[in-house]
Amino acid sequence: CGIVGYIGYRDAYPIVIKGLERLEYRGYDSAGVALYDGEELHICKTKGKVSDLKDKVEKDIPTKGSLGIGHTRWATHGVPNDVNSHPHQSNSGDIVLIHNGIIENYASIKQELTKRGYSFYSDTDTEVLANLIQEVMKIEKVKLGKAVQIALKQVVGAYAIAVFDRRKPDEIVVARLGSPLAIGIGKNEYFVGSDASPFIEYTSNAIYLEDEEMAIIRIGRDVKVRSINDDEQLDANIQELQLSLEQIEKKGYDHFMLKEIYEQPSAILDTFRGRLLPNEGIIKMSGIEDNLSKFLNANRIVIVACGTSWHAGLVAEYLFEDLARIPVEVEYASEFRYRNPVIKRDDVVIAISQSGETADTLAAIKLAKSMGAFVFGVCNVVGSSIARETNAGAYTHAGPEIGVASTKAFTTQITVLTLIALRLANAKGTLSTSDYKKCLFDLEAIPRRVEEVLDVNDQIVKIAENYSDVANCLYLGRKYNFPVALEGALKLKEISYIHAEGYPAAEMKHGPIALIDEQMPVVVIATKKGNYEKIVSNIQEIKSRRGRIIAVVTQGDTMIKEMADYAIEIPETVEFLTPLIATIPLQLLSYHIAVMRGCNVDQPRNLAKSVTVE
Ligand code: G6P
Repeated sequence: CGIVGYIGYRDAYPIVIKGLERLEYRGYDSAGVALYDGEELHICKTKGKVSDLKDKVEKDIPTKGSLGIGHTRWATHGVPNDVNSHPHQSNSGDIVLIHNGIIENYASIKQELTKRGYSFYSDTDTEVLANLIQEVMKIEKVKLGKAVQIALKQVVGAYAIAVFDRRKPDEIVVARLGSPLAIGIGKNEYFVGSDASPFIEYTSNAIYLEDEEMAIIRIGRDVKVRSINDDEQLDANIQELQLSLEQIEKKGYDHFMLKEIYEQPSAILDTFRGRLLPNEGIIKMSGIEDNLSKFLNANRIVIVACGTSWHAGLVAEYLFEDLARIPVEVEYASEFRYRNPVIKRDDVVIAISQSGETADTLAAIKLAKSMGAFVFGVCNVVGSSIARETNAGAYTHAGPEIGVASTKAFTTQITVLTLIALRLANAKGTLSTSDYKKCLFDLEAIPRRVEEVLDVNDQIVKIAENYSDVANCLYLGRKYNFPVALEGALKLKEISYIHAEGYPAAEMKHGPIALIDEQMPVVVIATKKGNYEKIVSNIQEIKSRRGRIIAVVTQGDTMIKEMADYAIEIPETVEFLTPLIATIPLQLLSYHIAVMRGCNVDQPRNLAKSVTVE
């Protein structure tokens, strides 16, 4: 979910609604605002998107007033409908609350409050918290800030909240545990956001709350930050924002996803910046250099991640084993955390996450740390929870990724992981100095190769026209291209709702081949390096069952071109760098198919960009 708030001298509504539009990537099945116009409180909420909310607000409630909060939801408790949308009010109507996260013990709190005469109108855990705060204020005779603190001490779960009391509308109280929350500091005005994007054009100063911290934001006073559990007043750590407005706009592209696909050459270049120095024959990454002995003495590397980041982890498995000869295991963070894993002190755990907020990945990190492992993070969002929780790390520096389906985050994750694998190979001597240096130049050339491969866009539009109505699709690849196949299938599934599966090409014989007939498109990543002859045989197997083949091939390929219905040519590179190039046409294919099917590419149904619940 995304949360926004404003308190100051301007009208809150335009700021809140624009903020919600920017945070919509975090959840978009329902939305709502609460505005205080100086005399009265107005709440408007609806199932659907922020644009639906906007229409409703402008019809139904006054939009004046300089205090407002807003919420865009990704449902956890209760179906997405008007009643379950946030903000929620306590029974007296005084406490107005928005919440991102889950309150796990809500049922017992609800039961207790029901005994005390409270009624509940929604199925949400959030309404329970609003009433708990009201009850604490009544019983303990304390002000809002104190009541929030006492209430949160009783809560088990994860949250970022923003709450105000309509009887005292000069103050917003916010708190976080496990879900991000930023406070923008202006002159006589304050902003609240799940990230800084809602207030980027108003201020470049922000406080990022840490877990178990809360803040009291009152007009005419400095923000007071407190620890929830110890009642300690903390120093407010005001940071200079690194985000620019330009970075979060579409710049003329129809969708964020397309913009982000096209940003990949420059994003990969940004990932290299200051780190990759081929002429000097070195890679400089402080997170690695400072901990080199940990990596070199590692018994093995365990990679934990979710979704697309997990696919980047699979590519890294090939890279680390192939180049640096370090054994690697790749785990879904959600499985790792619950299956009683064996972790030893000389294991190095690498957590990969674009957002740096994924709940399962965060929990996996905490578990690995508690078992004595050294944990290294590969994150995109600077200052995110995972970036802070890990012992060391390397940022991908891809810039903000807004499209829910990950594109440039994936390729920049692979880039960082390639840099690490190469540096370790160099330190361990598994690559000779001259081979190492050559690899650095090959890597440096990747942004230009990606630029070239983007030229296949027009061809892909034509292919997409022929495949936009299919019901299923199979993606096959071998070695380095196996994770690419998985990622290609995930992209298609996510944004076009076509059922797609990625498979190691040879495994096709053990199941998916049963599905192949003249209806079934099969996307085969069949580049020159990477078991070419074997993949040619796999293509023949598909052809003899009349499957329709879209092949991603190396420029100049003739053999597969003759066999495939369509061949997409990509520039040649060394094998271990192929994923960075072969992924691009698959991203474009999914994008165009989804657009042709009329799907909402940037905000696919039921998905969210940042999954802060488990
Ligand atoms: C969600 C997103 C995916 C992402 C995954 C992991 O499912 O929709 O695009 O790959 O979470 O997110 P992370 O931020 O940890 O990389």
